[in-house]
Amino acid sequence: MTSPTSALPEWARRRTFAIISHPDAGKTTLTENILLSAGAIRLAGQVKARGENRRTQSDWMKIERERGISVSASVMTYEYGGLLFNLLDTPGHEDFSEDTYRTLTAADSAIMVLDAAKGVEPRTLKLVEVCRLRDIPILTFINKMDREAMDPSELLDDIQDKLALDAAPMQWPSGSGTRFKGVADLERDEFVVYRRPSADDADPVRSQRVSLSGNEISSILSTEELAELREGAELAREVCPAFNPQSYREGHMTPVYFGSALRQFGVFELLEALKQVAPGPEAQPATGGPAPELTPDGKEVAGFVFKVQANMDPNHRDRVAFMRLCSGTFKRGMKLKTDSGKLLTVSSPIMFFAQDRELADEAYAGDVIGVPNHGALRVGDTLSESGKWRVAGIPNFAPELLRRARLKDPLKAKHLKKALESLAEEGVTQLFRLQVGGDFVVGAVGALQIDVMAERVAAEYNLEVTFEPSPYETARWITGPRDKLEALIDRHKSAIAEDIDGALVFMAKNAWEVSYTQEKWPDIEFHRAKERR
Ligand code: G4P
Repeated sequence: MTSPTSALPEWARRRTFAIISHPDAGKTTLTENILLSAGAIRLAGQVKARGENRRTQSDWMKIERERGISVSASVMTYEYGGLLFNLLDTPGHEDFSEDTYRTLTAADSAIMVLDAAKGVEPRTLKLVEVCRLRDIPILTFINKMDREAMDPSELLDDIQDKLALDAAPMQWPSGSGTRFKGVADLERDEFVVYRRPSADDADPVRSQRVSLSGNEISSILSTEELAELREGAELAREVCPAFNPQSYREGHMTPVYFGSALRQFGVFELLEALKQVAPGPEAQPATGGPAPELTPDGKEVAGFVFKVQANMDPNHRDRVAFMRLCSGTFKRGMKLKTDSGKLLTVSSPIMFFAQDRELADEAYAGDVIGVPNHGALRVGDTLSESGKWRVAGIPNFAPELLRRARLKDPLKAKHLKKALESLAEEGVTQLFRLQVGGDFVVGAVGALQIDVMAERVAAEYNLEVTFEPSPYETARWITGPRDKLEALIDRHKSAIAEDIDGALVFMAKNAWEVSYTQEKWPDIEFHRAKERR
């Protein structure tokens, strides 16, 4: 018998997603167990181990080695239930960067991992804000139920209040920590039994399910536990919104699952949920072509660069541009053009089909390929056969760290300008030039970006530069009626800068100053994100 998915065109089998979380909530552990459960890897610990290998095998940047972290975001592919999933990895370290944000522009959906004891934490909040720019559907996994957790209703309220997302519980847990027994499946009136895996368990197995109305449940839950579970589940059904797939796809509602990534509980349920509800590639707004959007079933190959990784091999100054395909069937050796007219023969693309060797020479909408190049490709570039397309919506994000660049040798000002501009074009950091005084201010959303920039300015451009704290902490792009803009610039001269494209930027000492100025200038819009070029 053929499965219904086998009749799908290749692009329609793709599900491209990212996992978002606050550090320590369990993203790495969940990634590992998703790959294990789907049969993509055999040994637990492989995700981290793979990172280690990569670091020792290739000559990674010094900073990466020194800190023992991976600056890169890559792709992990697995098959499950007839679909092909591309899991976009985002830097897991506490120090995050615009790479994390931009990776989300290449994902069609996200899994949000929350620590059951902590609920929504600050980083989660920011990442959801980024998902919201494109209304990416979010599925929630409440992790670490094997530890003392917050009350499930409190967790749902937290999602609702802090993230303004309708939380639809798909399950209801019975206890937490040492009293954690499993979860009730609210759709099927079944109980998914938690069993702590033992050390000699091989690959993850599906949890046992028993009927909530039969006799068997009484051998798993005590009378009190069952009563409490029934009460909780009933309340959840009455009070919480029921899952609405459309609302989820529009980014307004999140289905909520509970589990423990470390104890491999709830991961199969998550794989199933992704398979059932996560969207495949959809039409991508774009300009320059014969239509206002690129459709995944389109004939012409087109995609956009969401990340450029440098220094994979410092001797060759190589770069790998990560390109998310939006339409067409990509074939190895194809000639593609950027929207600025550069022609590239993609003879040795890096493909991410660990499981599916037959497909290694082709990629489809939803897939990500790595395109080696010598600096020709920039974040935000669109590559297509005609070179006419330009994908919209690869944003720059308001920096949260601003540093003034100071040269040791002032005679090298021109070199510095070139270095900072080139690194900003590549997407390593952002660059602003103050209108008064002309100082360069480098902006980033994470401290690591600044360190990477400093390292590269020294190593590749041979410049001695210090990046000093600037009086500003954040920035917003400003637009509005010309007279009002001029009045604001006049009033706040020293806080006005231009970005690398000449767009006007208001620099602020803190978020409070942004809101205060915003209130004073109601005709001016203060943007937290700006589309590149
Ligand atoms: P992150 O990528 O989101 O930063 O989190 P990561 O998976 O590295 O997990 C952070 C810590 O939380 C790890 O412990 C991990 O073992 C633990 N953890 C993840 N999921 C669960 C869970 O479901 N239950 C429990 N009890 N713990 C969980 P660590 O001690 O910091 O690191 P390690 O030495 O175990 O690697």
